[in-house]
Amino acid sequence: MTLLHDAALAEAFDRGAGSYDRLVTLNPGYHAQLRRSARRLALAAGTAAHRVLDLGCGTGASTAALAAALPHAKIVGLDASAGMLRRAAAKAWPDRVSFVHAPAEDLGTAGVRGPFDAVFAAYLFRNLADPDAVLRTVLELVAPGGRLAVHEYALSGRRVDRAVWSAVCGGVILPLGAATGNGGLYRHLRRSVAEFDTAPAFGDRMRRAGFDRVDVLPLPGWQTGITHTFLARRPPERPTGAR
Ligand SMILES: C[S@@+](CC[C@H](N)C(=O)[O-])C[C@H]1O[C@@H](n2cnc3c(N)ncnc32)[C@H](O)[C@@H]1O
Repeated sequence: MTLLHDAALAEAFDRGAGSYDRLVTLNPGYHAQLRRSARRLALAAGTAAHRVLDLGCGTGASTAALAAALPHAKIVGLDASAGMLRRAAAKAWPDRVSFVHAPAEDLGTAGVRGPFDAVFAAYLFRNLADPDAVLRTVLELVAPGGRLAVHEYALSGRRVDRAVWSAVCGGVILPLGAATGNGGLYRHLRRSVAEFDTAPAFGDRMRRAGFDRVDVLPLPGWQTGITHTFLARRPPERPTGAR
């Protein structure tokens, strides 16, 4: 099976949106891990209304994590799948949360403009045909000194973690995919993780795109070594004349 990208991936998420949302709702650990990554953004506390973009917001689990971690932030959730986004938008949200239907590769056409104080992307980058291009777009979109947090399945590089991922796929993920009639999407999940960057390689990818202060942080539980929070900063602009 080939990896799914772009329109084919959006269609697969359109079809799978209902069962995806039900499975996520039944999994408190999924939300707890997202909230941990959202808190790691560590935007300055206080009442400042930070602008935050949730890239690939899906049915809104990552948006909810951001809304909980950043109670004053204005949050824009964006997704390429109309089906996923419909589920997100149908939930109850405070006025400071809004949603946009667009691919991460075409934000300008959708009217999504920076600067944002932070961009969050959970389980997105592994799905992109050109992750470097989207990292460069995000670099332009965040304010100088602004933050990016990527929450992603990216294996540590240790054989044991690859073996755990393989076992979880064989024992849980693929059977769930078959049971919910979304086998293609869940086979894509298995393969996209197996073929994606290791965690250190994705950290390097962020640095190459122009981010600094890159931190690769593990998540607790069975996902240790499998899922990471990647934190990075757009370097602040130097005052004119500074060397
Ligand atoms: C696995 S879901 C994660 C959703 C959400 N962030 C969460 O944590 O539950 C990945 C989402 O990324 C979206 N996506 C994939 N490629 C995209 C792209 N190029 N632009 C925008 N969204 C994309 C999919 O439509 C899907 O809703």
